[in-house]
Amino acid sequence: MRTAIIGFGKLGEAITRKLIRAGHTVLLTNSRGPASLQQKAIQLGELAVPAELADVAEAEVLFLTVPWSTIPAVSKSLPELSGKILVDVTNQFLPDMRLDDLKGKASSRIVQAHFPDVSLVKALNHYFEKWVDAEPVVGLGHRLAFIAGDDEQSKSVVAGLLSEFGFQPLDMGDIDTGSLAQQAGGPLAGLNVVSYPA
Ligand SMILES: NC(=O)c1ccc[n+]([C@@H]2O[C@H](COP(=O)([O-])OP(=O)(O)OC[C@H]3O[C@@H](n4cnc5c(N)ncnc54)[C@H](OP(=O)(O)O)[C@@H]3O)[C@@H](O)[C@H]2O)c1
Repeated sequence: MRTAIIGFGKLGEAITRKLIRAGHTVLLTNSRGPASLQQKAIQLGELAVPAELADVAEAEVLFLTVPWSTIPAVSKSLPELSGKILVDVTNQFLPDMRLDDLKGKASSRIVQAHFPDVSLVKALNHYFEKWVDAEPVVGLGHRLAFIAGDDEQSKSVVAGLLSEFGFQPLDMGDIDTGSLAQQAGGPLAGLNVVSYPA
């Protein structure tokens, strides 16, 4: 599958490693352009392809891994993404690391407003980057990966990717309920849970 990272930083790199290990092509993007990502791509291997933000529509599944405050600007830099799956991995931290006060609204609902044409799935945001990067298979167990979204088909695509990575996806429901529990400040945020067979 062709995938893209919108905002290749700490979390974007951890997700890229998992995508590459599962055999997927990953377009790497940031605000500075492909030349700034060339060295990193060489380290990651031939499935890592530095790209312009304008080219991310070549991917089927895109991971949004930019800082919260940049989302409005990022959305204006991207091409038409109608019908694409956007995995929202962001958390609503302000530049001073305070949580943005969303008045009880799901952060993904706000992200969706900036990307009205995509099918949005919230995933992997509840883990610190080190736990996304870590091996999800722990003995006989698998780390849980919570997902939420309004479209069942898109959730099943993302759940498939998470399973390929080695996580055990757990569907928490739609954006307004499930993602609210997953986002920063919610009861599932920061949890590192391994599920073992009975
Ligand atoms: N790190 C974690 O443990 C963790 C865990 C869960 C969720 N998250 C969430 O994931 C997101 C990213 O976190 P991070 O720790 O990976 O941050 P990071 O290391 O700072 O990476 C963010 C990347 O976004 C890029 N970026 C910034 N503005 C951009 C723009 N206008 N267009 C395109 N790319 C842009 C930056 O690259 P350039 O400056 O070169 O453009 C940077 O490499 C945040 O929303 C954070 O809350 C992080």
